[in-house]
Amino acid sequence: MSKEEARFPPCFFLGLYLILITGQAISAATDREVLLQLKDHLEATNPIRRGAYARWNASDSSPCNWPGITCNDADRVTGINLAESNINGEIFPNFHLLPELTHLDLSSNTIGGSLPADLNKCSALEHLNLSANVIAGELNLAGLTNLVMLDLTSNRFNGSIRSNFPAICANLVSLNISSNSFSGDVTGCFDKCPKLEYLDLSYNLFDGYIWQGFQKLRELFVSENHLNGELSSSTFASNCALEILDLSTNNFSGTFPGSIANCSKLTSLDLRDNAFMGEVPSGIGSLSELNSLRLGNNAFDRTIPEELLNCSKLVILDFSSHDFGGDIPEIFGRFVTLDHLILYGNQYTGGIESSGILKLPDLTTLNLSKNRFSGTLPVEITTMPKIKILILAYNGFSGSIPPAVGGMARLQLLDLSYNKLTGSIPLVIGNLTSLLWLTLAGNDLTGNIPPEIGNCSSLMWLNLANNRLSGRIPPEISAIGSDPNPTFEANRREIRQVTPVSGDCLTMNRWLPASYPPFNFVYMMFTKRKCRTTWDRLLQGYAVFPICSNSSSRILSRGISGYLQLSGNRFSGGIPPEIGRMRNFSMIQLDGNRLSSRLPREIGQLPLVIFNVSSNQLSGEIPHEIGGLRCLTILDLSQNNFSGELPSSLNGLSELNKFNVSYNPWLSGMVPSTGQIATFDHDSFLGDPLINFSFWLNGGPSFGSPPAPPPPARNSSAAGGGGRWKSVLLGVFIALTLAFVGTLTRTAVRCWRRRELQALVEEERRRRNWAW
Ligand SMILES: *[C@@H]1O[C@H](CO)[C@@H](O)[C@H](O)[C@H]1NC(C)=O
Ligand SMILES: *[C@@H]1O[C@H](CO)[C@@H](O)[C@H](O)[C@H]1NC(C)=O
Ligand SMILES: *[C@@H]1O[C@H](CO)[C@@H](O)[C@H](O)[C@H]1NC(C)=O
Ligand SMILES: *[C@@H]1O[C@H](CO)[C@@H](O)[C@H](O)[C@H]1NC(C)=O
Ligand SMILES: *[C@@H]1O[C@H](CO)[C@@H](O)[C@H](O)[C@H]1NC(C)=O
Ligand SMILES: *[C@@H]1O[C@H](CO)[C@@H](O)[C@H](O)[C@H]1NC(C)=O
Ligand SMILES: *[C@@H]1O[C@H](CO)[C@@H](O)[C@H](O)[C@H]1NC(C)=O
Ligand SMILES: *[C@@H]1O[C@H](CO)[C@@H](O)[C@H](O)[C@H]1NC(C)=O
Ligand SMILES: *[C@@H]1O[C@H](CO)[C@@H](O)[C@H](O)[C@H]1NC(C)=O
Ligand SMILES: *[C@@H]1O[C@H](CO)[C@@H](O)[C@H](O)[C@H]1NC(C)=O
Ligand SMILES: *[C@@H]1O[C@H](CO)[C@@H](O)[C@H](O)[C@H]1NC(C)=O
Ligand SMILES: *[C@@H]1O[C@H](CO)[C@@H](O)[C@H](O)[C@H]1NC(C)=O
Repeated sequence: MSKEEARFPPCFFLGLYLILITGQAISAATDREVLLQLKDHLEATNPIRRGAYARWNASDSSPCNWPGITCNDADRVTGINLAESNINGEIFPNFHLLPELTHLDLSSNTIGGSLPADLNKCSALEHLNLSANVIAGELNLAGLTNLVMLDLTSNRFNGSIRSNFPAICANLVSLNISSNSFSGDVTGCFDKCPKLEYLDLSYNLFDGYIWQGFQKLRELFVSENHLNGELSSSTFASNCALEILDLSTNNFSGTFPGSIANCSKLTSLDLRDNAFMGEVPSGIGSLSELNSLRLGNNAFDRTIPEELLNCSKLVILDFSSHDFGGDIPEIFGRFVTLDHLILYGNQYTGGIESSGILKLPDLTTLNLSKNRFSGTLPVEITTMPKIKILILAYNGFSGSIPPAVGGMARLQLLDLSYNKLTGSIPLVIGNLTSLLWLTLAGNDLTGNIPPEIGNCSSLMWLNLANNRLSGRIPPEISAIGSDPNPTFEANRREIRQVTPVSGDCLTMNRWLPASYPPFNFVYMMFTKRKCRTTWDRLLQGYAVFPICSNSSSRILSRGISGYLQLSGNRFSGGIPPEIGRMRNFSMIQLDGNRLSSRLPREIGQLPLVIFNVSSNQLSGEIPHEIGGLRCLTILDLSQNNFSGELPSSLNGLSELNKFNVSYNPWLSGMVPSTGQIATFDHDSFLGDPLINFSFWLNGGPSFGSPPAPPPPARNSSAAGGGGRWKSVLLGVFIALTLAFVGTLTRTAVRCWRRRELQALVEEERRRRNWAW
């Protein structure tokens, strides 16, 4: 059936409808007919990949056993579940012909267009889930007065919601319209929703004031909108039922009302990134269930009221980005239940020891980055009883790394980057067998990498970039990360489920090199809430994205993929062939050193996605084994002394989208006219006089002609190699998308679809101080 025909059935269905209202027996049979029409509609718009609906068998007399179909006792269809069924195209326009339909789930597909008027006639609907699609236009569901649950998360809806609310509010319990482009004022919209408990409006463009009367809700998320104004004391009345309140990243101002004390069931309060000022209300101290309090990036007074110490379940305290200066107040050292203490960006100059925070008995995560601490690292950090994640980056610490760090056997993440540390990396680093991340980038460290580092069997993510480290890269380094499982398993046993979750997006942005594939994919799924779960999953060794299962296959499997970042040092000698043992590492960056001799062919054994050895003194031939790295997307061999012929095998690197062999004056050979290498322009071969372009196609550059402008030809032309990298990327994206499961998929897909979020991502990318 063509698309035209698919749009036609209304008349046909009108007929059916007339039959339908004539009797119950006929009706049940008619439900089956409607579903078969639905199947036709879906098959017409989805000729290739199809969901379970393809198994709906027209020979069956009743549809009630078909996958995704639920019936009531009278064999009438009450539920249709088509979630994650690879559906493209517009919504089926005749759901209203199923008068008993109460549950409709079309989530996690690629359904587009706008909402058909038909849907608004399905007045029996109680549960409607359209989340994670690309449905656009305004919301017009005012007719669905029986709705209990409506989930429109991650679509492209826009405009005001006022014509729908409170019209459909009578039975509504859960409403989630986050990650759309809804706008306008929401004041009064939910006042007449007597049963509403869960409301998520986050990631939209709503503006105006926060309305009164939301305290009947159990969970309210309005994060990332343009809501503004002050919260009056009457905002939190005595019947406040809130358990989670997330007002983060809006433009709220004024003081925060102490009447929050009325919300005695509150477990999580997130006020980050607003313009709240004045005192932190002491009333928070009476919230005995509170486990997460996030106040970062506001303009609160520096004094924390003593009453807050009464929050006996508090495990996360974030009082970051306030530019306080001076010493860390001693009160922080008295929150004995804390698990996470986040004080970055406060311009503190001292008080690390005197505040007592290093003695907090349960502290596992301490973030003191972006302050103004100076002097040597306090050796007391090495005696913190339970610390796992220690972030002291972006301060002015000087002196050397104390050898006592060797005693921090539980440490999993040590970030000392961007300080003024000198001296060498202590040999005892090898004692840190739980270490997953080590980031010492941007200091003044000298000396060799101690071979003992090879004892760090959990170390998957090592970043020593931009120091003055020298000597040979020890072959022992190939043993890092050889067995992270004990650490991951310990985390699976230990990580507490706190509300909403621990960790932080920006943290991940800094530790996952998000501007590089495969990590950029992860970046896309960072809505604030999800990235925290993602971070927790990573600490537990659950892969969060697919990687190449081995160097020579593009089969993606879910695994943990490590990186080795040694750029911008003074390493010399050869790259040890043992590097070929690092089978779980997909990114190796050795650029900007003084490495010499040949590139070991063992490099071909790694599942590399990124390989950068530019600006060294490597010589000899480029090993043809590199052409077998089927997942390679970035290959930079520029500014070395490679010689011999460009291996023809490189043309098989079908994922490659950045390729640079420029300034290798002895490199020779012919740039192929077809295949992957042909998609790169002259810039990839600058300063390689022996490379021959004689039959460059598409009027591309040739010798003697001035450098071509940046490559529109590659982007626009569909012929030959032109446009290929783009379609390859698209292919990768689709493959990755399909390989994903669970919420991660949905979030990721959603984010790819969300231009606003992508803009946000870009902005955050610009903002972040990512240590690469
Ligand atoms: C549909 O059901 C009929 C009768 O039960 C059976 O013969 C046929 O193979 C089924 N078709 C499919 C595609 O399963
Ligand atoms: C809607 O569907 C999505 C994806 O299938 C799921 O994650 C979400 O929990 C559903 N919404 C509700 C309220 O059940
Ligand atoms: C909603 O988006 C459509 C395009 O998809 C646009 O034409 C329309 O003006 C938008 N409406 C509002 C209120 O922004
Ligand atoms: C929307 O919010 C509801 C209630 O909090 C939740 O159950 C549902 O899973 C959310 N939907 C998505 C797609 O996350
Ligand atoms: C936030 O509110 C202040 C006044 O309280 C206003 O000057 C500013 O423009 C607002 N910012 C945004 C982004 O709405
Ligand atoms: C609780 O709410 C009432 C209004 O309903 C308010 O008068 C009172 O001050 C609040 N209690 C606290 C402790 O703030
Ligand atoms: C809360 O803290 C204050 C000051 O620290 C104290 O006087 C008061 O007794 C505490 N209240 C409760 C209910 O624990
Ligand atoms: C290294 O670890 C061992 C065993 O955990 C411990 O006995 C030793 O003291 C540690 N070395 C240093 C320098 O801390
Ligand atoms: C640590 O590394 C050194 C040097 O590579 C090695 O001699 C030693 O046996 C290792 N220690 C342990 C406990 O593995
Ligand atoms: C790669 O990781 C797996 C799973 O963590 C581990 O079992 C294996 O030993 C690692 N392989 C190497 C060569 O490090
Ligand atoms: C720690 O501090 C950095 C700033 O250097 C910040 O980007 C990051 O989000 C913080 N991490 C956590 C877990 O809060
Ligand atoms: C890599 O994967 C391919 C396809 O799964 C398999 O045939 C090959 O043996 C694997 N190679 C290694 C070294 O594991």
